[in-house]
Amino acid sequence: MAEVDFDQAQAIPAANPAKRVKLTGRAFYESIGSPKMIVAPMVDRSEFAWRFLTRSYLDEQKNKELLAYTPMLHARLFQEQPKFRDAHFQPTKESLTSKEKSQVQPYLDGNPQIDRPLIVQFCANKPDEFLEAAEYVAPYCDAVDLNLGCPQGIAKSGHYGAFLQEDRDTIHKLIRKLRDDLDVPVTAKFRILETKEKTLDYAKMILDAGASIITVHGRERHQKGHKTGVADWQMIRYLRENLPSDTVLFANGNILNASDIEPCLEATGADGVMSAEGNLSDPTIFAKPPEDETSRDYWRDPRNPAVGGYRIDGVFRRYMDIIHRYVLEQDPPQRSPLYLPSDKVPEAGHDTVVGEADTGTAMAEPVTGTKRSNDMIGMNGDTAKQKSSKKQKTKRDKKDMTAVHNPNLKSMQGHLFQLLRPMLSSHTHIRDALARSRAGDIAAFENVLSMVEAAVKQGLDEENAELQAIMPTVKQDADELSSTNGHSHQHQVDEQSSEAARERCKRPFWVCQPHVRPLPDEALKLGAMQLSKKEKEALAQREAADSGVDVQKLKNYRTQEIVTDALKQAGGIAEEEIGLNKSQARVAETLPTDEKDKSHLRHVDNELPKEEALTCG
Ligand SMILES: Cc1cc2nc3c(=O)[nH]c(=O)nc-3n(C[C@H](O)[C@H](O)[C@H](O)COP(=O)(O)O)c2cc1C
Repeated sequence: MAEVDFDQAQAIPAANPAKRVKLTGRAFYESIGSPKMIVAPMVDRSEFAWRFLTRSYLDEQKNKELLAYTPMLHARLFQEQPKFRDAHFQPTKESLTSKEKSQVQPYLDGNPQIDRPLIVQFCANKPDEFLEAAEYVAPYCDAVDLNLGCPQGIAKSGHYGAFLQEDRDTIHKLIRKLRDDLDVPVTAKFRILETKEKTLDYAKMILDAGASIITVHGRERHQKGHKTGVADWQMIRYLRENLPSDTVLFANGNILNASDIEPCLEATGADGVMSAEGNLSDPTIFAKPPEDETSRDYWRDPRNPAVGGYRIDGVFRRYMDIIHRYVLEQDPPQRSPLYLPSDKVPEAGHDTVVGEADTGTAMAEPVTGTKRSNDMIGMNGDTAKQKSSKKQKTKRDKKDMTAVHNPNLKSMQGHLFQLLRPMLSSHTHIRDALARSRAGDIAAFENVLSMVEAAVKQGLDEENAELQAIMPTVKQDADELSSTNGHSHQHQVDEQSSEAARERCKRPFWVCQPHVRPLPDEALKLGAMQLSKKEKEALAQREAADSGVDVQKLKNYRTQEIVTDALKQAGGIAEEEIGLNKSQARVAETLPTDEKDKSHLRHVDNELPKEEALTCG
């Protein structure tokens, strides 16, 4: 494995050695290295392999500044059901049956060598259940977090997450219980309320209950799905200025890419910045470009070297290697260096056609098809091309079931749909192959990787050919761009629009980049979002109340303000896609929408994993 320095990654220091003195608040925060960068809790997305992938792009020093949260776990199920614990938290290879720290070798979650600092998040509404669940994980993490932000229907019916907002007494008891009785500190993540005063009051209550760190998601409960919109950093600043100065506060929301982190810290005065969606589309979001300017992992825009990003094929490889080495505990396949157009041309007969399986041979030093196929034997012990007998099939099905319960294997497809999003609408053969890749079928995922590598090779070659053809103007462009700080002024866009953000973040398809969704008013105009009956009524009421105003003008005037107001009045009642469904919907968003391609959309949607009971995001 030429390109991943796992030894370096393994050198992440243990955040909290042996048995601990319980520190709280800022002293606790400092004891875990005062992290400034935080991987958000994400159901089915912030599992070990993804956290480790994100950490692996940071050097040793920066690693101390990265804190990660587990996905939200359901406290009642976790304390009640050993199977549920095993399916979601694997600190050792044995079942998590005791609340004492196990003496057996650490495995994945909370492993002091590779997965710290770590905060485990739960949703809960009963203090005793919350404590019981937290006691199981306390020996393997640095703190336990209470989810007060989940806005989904499932949280509403289960009375947890953001739906505890109106039940302050319960929140206070939940946090206080852990503050008093748990070995590690308790923290809380919540959404802002409608006004500064209400939010401040709410935050004070959470701190009074005993939260050592608060994470403030700068969006209200109704802001989800197409209504997500922009997070309010001003509100977070207000909290910073009006809460006790030693409060440890993380800001969450609006981090599209690495260049947003510093501005967020500055604007909010927060101690750290948490990223969720930005981290999913670019797990290198917290990393700096490599110091080695010839690194194959990183693409620099030949027209403007100040613009760049980590290559998707490199990130995908690294992710696969982590799955092999840490989750499956087997050597990853040998891989050739990532392709560069300056590499020598492969001999005739070894080159490949984009779209074929086994295109891992499209490398500078081709790995033969046979070698590759052997290497691709994953945990199922069969290759994509092997004809399986009935007996083999049964055996594989059983192992597939094991995979489905492994949080790291289960999330691979969802992660890859998000990571590869920039290329999936143009490379539909890859999208279809990914859609067919089942949890635990490592050979299938390796095959998708080969297809991605071949597509990236083709993209790089095309870029290179284009550059050769227009060499003199490229130099001129680069000079002009550096004199305008890297911004092209070809056409004017509204700086506040999602189009402006999209333009700022746009990279070639082979580079990690954020997905910028339309703002609520834009989504409405595009027809991607429709107001629910209640929301329409609210809008109509508002129009009627303003009857002195030109109604026609008002009807055409679908500004974000009006829409947001209407949504607020309706209390965010309209249901949205959630958790895995949300990512499925995002996949669907990338797909072509014209009639002839709708069959694809249905196909992919059917192929995606079904939503589980607990995918609350
Ligand atoms: C796929 C997904 C799963 C999520 N799961 C959780 C979760 O388990 N717990 C939680 O507190 N928030 C969850 N969230 C919300 C994020 O932690 C974060 O608050 C939100 O996405 C805003 O941050 P962002 O603008 O960086 O995406 C989830 C978000 C996504 C996209």
